[in-house]
Formats: sequence, structure tokens, C-alpha cells
Amino acid sequence: MCGIVGYIGHRQAYPIIIEGLKRLEYRGYDSAGIALYDGNSLNLSKTKGKVSDLEARSHAEMPIDGSIGIGHTRWATHGVPNDVNAHPHYSNSGNLVIIHNGIIENYDAIKKELINRGYTFQSDTDTEVLVNLIEEIQKQEGAKLGKAVQIALNQVVGAYAIAVFDKNKPNEIVIARLGSPLAVGVGENEFFIASDASPFIEYTKNAIYLEDEEMAIIRLGKEVKIRKIKDDSLVDPYVQELQMNLEQIEKSGYDHFMLKEIYEQPRAILDTFRGRLLSKEAIIKMAGVEDNMKKFLNADRIIIVACGTSWHAGLVAEYIFEDLARIPVEVEYASEFRYRNPVITENDVVIAISQSGETADTLAAIKLAKSKGAFVFGVCNVVGSSIARETDAGAYTHAGPEIGVASTKAFTTQITVLSLMALRLARAKGTISSSDFRRYLIELELIPNKVEKALQSDNYVKEISNIYKDSRNFLYLGRGFNFPVALEGALKLKEISYIHAEGYPAAEMKHGPIALIDEQMPVVVIATKKGHYEKVVSNIQEIKSRKGKIIGIVTEGDVHVKELADHVIEVPETEETFSPLLTTIPLQLLSYHIAVMLGKNVDQPRNLAKSVTVE
Ligand code: AGP
Repeated sequence: MCGIVGYIGHRQAYPIIIEGLKRLEYRGYDSAGIALYDGNSLNLSKTKGKVSDLEARSHAEMPIDGSIGIGHTRWATHGVPNDVNAHPHYSNSGNLVIIHNGIIENYDAIKKELINRGYTFQSDTDTEVLVNLIEEIQKQEGAKLGKAVQIALNQVVGAYAIAVFDKNKPNEIVIARLGSPLAVGVGENEFFIASDASPFIEYTKNAIYLEDEEMAIIRLGKEVKIRKIKDDSLVDPYVQELQMNLEQIEKSGYDHFMLKEIYEQPRAILDTFRGRLLSKEAIIKMAGVEDNMKKFLNADRIIIVACGTSWHAGLVAEYIFEDLARIPVEVEYASEFRYRNPVITENDVVIAISQSGETADTLAAIKLAKSKGAFVFGVCNVVGSSIARETDAGAYTHAGPEIGVASTKAFTTQITVLSLMALRLARAKGTISSSDFRRYLIELELIPNKVEKALQSDNYVKEISNIYKDSRNFLYLGRGFNFPVALEGALKLKEISYIHAEGYPAAEMKHGPIALIDEQMPVVVIATKKGHYEKVVSNIQEIKSRKGKIIGIVTEGDVHVKELADHVIEVPETEETFSPLLTTIPLQLLSYHIAVMLGKNVDQPRNLAKSVTVE
């Protein structure tokens, strides 16, 4: 994980790097650092804590002058989060500085070798080993910085996005990537380097995304030269025009990104529909599906691989695909799938779901599936991300940047894309009639308005949050399409409020979790009209008999659950298939308000990072 930013040009680098790091804090926020070259000296400041801590410290301890610099916000892998382990790291001579996102797996062996040669180390990091390896190669081989970086990277095993600066070559920054993202913003006689394009969006719309195993020397007044790290061959840089704008990555008046993103869902789902859901013509157009229709129709099964919230979206998709398109679906944690020697054949279609498109386990699962001959389809939010590039075909969710660590609009737009796919395949397979297909399309098109309506429960959800904010445990129950929503509701609560929460299929309660229920236990039950309603109502009765506190998520106008539950939150009526798009909204709001009331850092919960680019 970690976020990296660099600048070389004619402006002051400091504000660009600090502001850029703030935008990348979703990638890690346990320590931060910056190195600036002011034309004479290389100055460095770093600290445990957030970029705001770095800002305060750097102002006090270094000149913040200079138009070349690199900065880093960290999510610790090797070495605890403290001042010393924060990046950038100097080489022993003090000539080189490096920032690194990733892990050097064989750092220990290299470190021993360097210690034998007289090197000393201040930190516990793998990164400090890499910068000294580069320095040693410079010494041994008399190599220029770019060449030394290349030789070093051919000796290391692991993943990296790095930027290295040498004060003896002060007109260039050398960058490289393997497994961690890296973008270069190309301006007028200036370059920006960052883990994603958000740090430079107001300066340039032109970006080059480095591919794995590529490195580049970013030199003032020169074109970006990209080379393959392994064989030194030159690669033609592909300059993309960015679609993102500044407003999308700002809070726009909301207290937190998470709340903004919850409220963006009606718009985000509409964007997901755009150009795909043509209800008047009664068609769904998805190029990635159309172009590979045979693969989908001839598939023995679909295997979905994902992690976290995206895995929950995959579980919802299992219900939808099997119900509508009658294709068998298996949903796998990517982290388990990649290591358990799964049976995969050329007749399998694998769907990889990922908001960031950078999740290391999902990426590895994709590579494994491809190596076995399966066709792999990606459902990603971040355009041009590693997963989007690694998959054979795919569909973007078009949710816009999701910055809050807790996934909200990514989840609903993933379900939207997967619903469109399932409907398209169902039509192609003839597993639903044309009248049903039309009915589904009309209903799907109404979802953004219904999400808007579901959001109106916000104040009431806030009141409920105030009642239960001090509970130590929560249980979430749902059935059918809403079982994964129960899992997602529990995940949202635990990740941002640090309250223990469990999600269960409602009927599983009696096989164990019911023992937990007493008057201290709030139980959130999704009990919408069409989803095994009577059965879920029986479960609610069982909770009530044991004095559990019941928060029901019900269909508008429900009377039955109202009589039993302590509180009910209504959502508009819809097809059961699409109900997760609505029932998830009050659960997002509940977790948000509880976390805010408990004074937690909603957008940057402890120990987490937005893109999990390490195993
Ligand atoms: C959920 O709120 C988390 N941010 C996390 O579970 C996330 O969904 C998971 O890490 C997968 O991320 P991805 O969608 O970017 O692959």
C-alpha cells in the first residue's frame, strides 16, 4: 500500500507534494515524509502520523524551498510506524533518497551482504536496503542512477513502485514499477509522479501509467523515456487523457468522504447505467460481454474472485446470476483461491471484482486463472488499474473516485454492473422471457430514485445510532439476496467504529449465534417483503423472545415487523433481485453515524488502507 508523490518542474514542489499526499492518504496514513532539493542541498523531514503532522514538522525543521521533491504516506509492512521507518530513506552517503510502495521480499539477504560491505541501517525497512543496494551498484559499476536502479531491481524479489533522486544528478527522478501502481503527469516542462492521478489532476490531464516491469527516467526538458527493467528495451509512452476532475476528489461540503460517497450513489448508479441500460429499446449493451458472449454462454460455471466488500458484491451476484441466467456460480475469496490449487478449466469464466483494481490477492487469483486457460472478466472502478489491464475483458463501474476507506458506492455500482450482465446473459440464454426482461429493466432504471428515497431515512438512522452507539456487539441477519448485505453491514460497522459485528444468514441464527442474544444485543434484520419474508419474521420473533433489540430494515408500508421490532427503517419496494441496492443504504448510514458519534476517523480507520496491494 502507501502513496507516493514526486514533482520536477518550475513550481514550488512542497505544496504539490503535501496536497498530493493528503489525497493519497487513503492508501496508508501511519507515517509520512518529504525530501526536497533546493538547488544546493537535499532536505528531508518525516514523522509518524498523518500528512498534517508532517506539514507541521517539516515547516519547523527544513527549508521548504525547491522545485524537485518526493513524498510518501505509509502503511507499514516492514518495521513499526515511527519516525525512523517513515519514507523517504537516505542512502548511507546521503546522496540518494528513495520512496517505495511495496515489499522487497529478499531484503534480508541483501541487507546482510551490504552490512558485510560496511553499510549501516537506521530503519527496519526493506526500502532502506534497496536504496543502499542502488548506491552500492553505483559505486561498484560506476553506473548512472538509472542504470544502477535497473541493476538493483533485477536483483530484488517483490513488489514496488519507487521514485529515486540523486543529488548529484539533480535534474532527474528515476521511477519504476512492479505490482504497485505509478502514474506520471505530463505538464508543460514539468512532471508529476504519483500512485494515482489525483495529486496532479488540477495541473495536467495528460498521464502515462507505467506498466509492470517498466522504469522511466523523468528528466526536465526531455520526453519521458520508458524501458523494460529486464531487457532494457524501449517502450513507447502512451499518454492518456484523464477524465477525473478536482470536484470528484474533494469533500464538496460533506464532513467525510464516506458520507459524500453514500450520497453519491443515485448518481453513481446512473453513471453505471449510462449507454448500457436502454430501457426504451429494451436492450442492455455491454461491449465486454457482447464481444465474449460465446465464452459466457458456453461456460460450465462462473467463478467470482474478490476480497472484502467486493466479495460481498460477488455473493449478491451469485444469487442474481443463478436466478436469472441459470449459470452455476462459485464465489471465492481471492486470497484463498490463489493458494488452494483450485480446479479451473478452459470452460470456466472467472469474474474478478475490485474497486481499486490493485488488490494483490485478486490480481494473483486472476493470473492463476489465466494460467489455467480460463477467460477472466474484470469489474473494476479505477480506470486503467492493474486488474483492468490484466483481465481479458471487463466492465467499469464508473462510480467515480471512492476515497473513504469503507466502500459504499463501489459496492452498489458493482452490484449494478453485475445485474446488467446477468440480465444480458439471461436474455441471450433465453432463461427469462422478453416481458420479464423488460420488467426488470424498468425496475432497474427506477433504482437511482429509490436509493435517493432510501437516503431520506438518514436522520432517523442517526437517532437509532445514538441509542446503540455504545453496544459492544451487533448481529446482522439477512436471507437470500440480502444475506450478503448482512455481511456487508457488519463489515461496515466493524471497520469504521471498531465494534464487533457478525453477519449471518437469518436461518443460521439458530445453529449458534442465537446463544449470543440478550437484552444487550442489537440485531439488524433485513426483512423486505419479497425475500422469504415470513421466515425472517419468525426469526425476528425468536430474537424478541430472547429480549434482543431489533432494528428491522423493511419495505415501505410494512406493518408486521413494525409490531415486533424496536425500530424499523423503511426502504422503497423493488424486485427482490435488486433489493440489496436499497437495503444496504441504511446499513451504510448506521455504521457512519455510530463511528462519527464515537469520534472515530471515518475515512481513515485504524490499520486499514484503501487499496490492499500486499498479501
Ligand atoms: C471495505 O469497506 C474495504 N475497503 C475492503 O474490504 C475492500 O472492499 C477490499 O479491500 C477489496 O478492495 P478492492 O475492491 O479495491 O479490491
